[in-house]
Amino acid sequence: MKSIKYKRIMLKLSGEALAGKNGYGIDFQVAKRIAEEIKEIVKMGIEVGAVVGGGNIWRGRQGEDMDRTTADYMGMLATCINAMALQDSLEGIGVYTRVQTAIEMKEIAEPFIRRRAMRHLEKGRVVIFGAGTGNPYFSTDTTAALRAAEIEADLILLAKKVDGVYDKDPNKYSDAVKYDTVRYMDVLEKGLQVMDSTATSLCMDNNIPILVFGLDTPGNIKRAITGEKIGTLVTK
Ligand code: GTP
Repeated sequence: MKSIKYKRIMLKLSGEALAGKNGYGIDFQVAKRIAEEIKEIVKMGIEVGAVVGGGNIWRGRQGEDMDRTTADYMGMLATCINAMALQDSLEGIGVYTRVQTAIEMKEIAEPFIRRRAMRHLEKGRVVIFGAGTGNPYFSTDTTAALRAAEIEADLILLAKKVDGVYDKDPNKYSDAVKYDTVRYMDVLEKGLQVMDSTATSLCMDNNIPILVFGLDTPGNIKRAITGEKIGTLVTK
């Protein structure tokens, strides 16, 4: 068996990752495939925290004429729907999970309590963090960075449609070059499409490495945690 490089990780999935080809809503076939991949690493003893975006249901910027905070709160609710979908997919294949939300909705999920989250992780439960940070003006990338710092994750696994960080958009430019590693500061200075600047700064200040990788290739989550050379590693 390949050696495990990390003990506790934070997996960040975009909402679109759950949408599959439809680009909207939840494709449960896709959710199941992601759940199977998570199960594989849980079985290896990795402790997994997860944050899912909400873009497959609602994007804050969709509500152009809306009050920004209201639009953002709608996005936070969308992440809760996704968190529950992922929970259901995981539990359907026998993985223990807990959903904790930053906005209390006690009838549906536990409220976010850091010490409880830690206990769940230690017990091998996947903890899915819903409702973002609970505050408008913050992204789910920032949520992943914040919760990763709080649960003392060794790494953020940032799942993307593209398979790493490029010097320019690989969908537009055929000569785009992929980085193996890149510094947080480069991401900020060059405006590379990794995470927004708030999330990147939080990772930089707390020295949390980010592995950007493509989720479309099956088996990549396991490859990432066993230290196989995939994607792009963002570090100091
Ligand atoms: P341990 O203390 O490690 O045994 O954790 P536990 O989560 O199994 O214990 P607990 O008895 O607190 O929770 C049992 C179940 O209730 C779990 O499925 C929790 O997710 C759920 N639960 C706990 N608190 C809340 C809550 O505030 N709201 C909701 N909806 N469920 C909760």
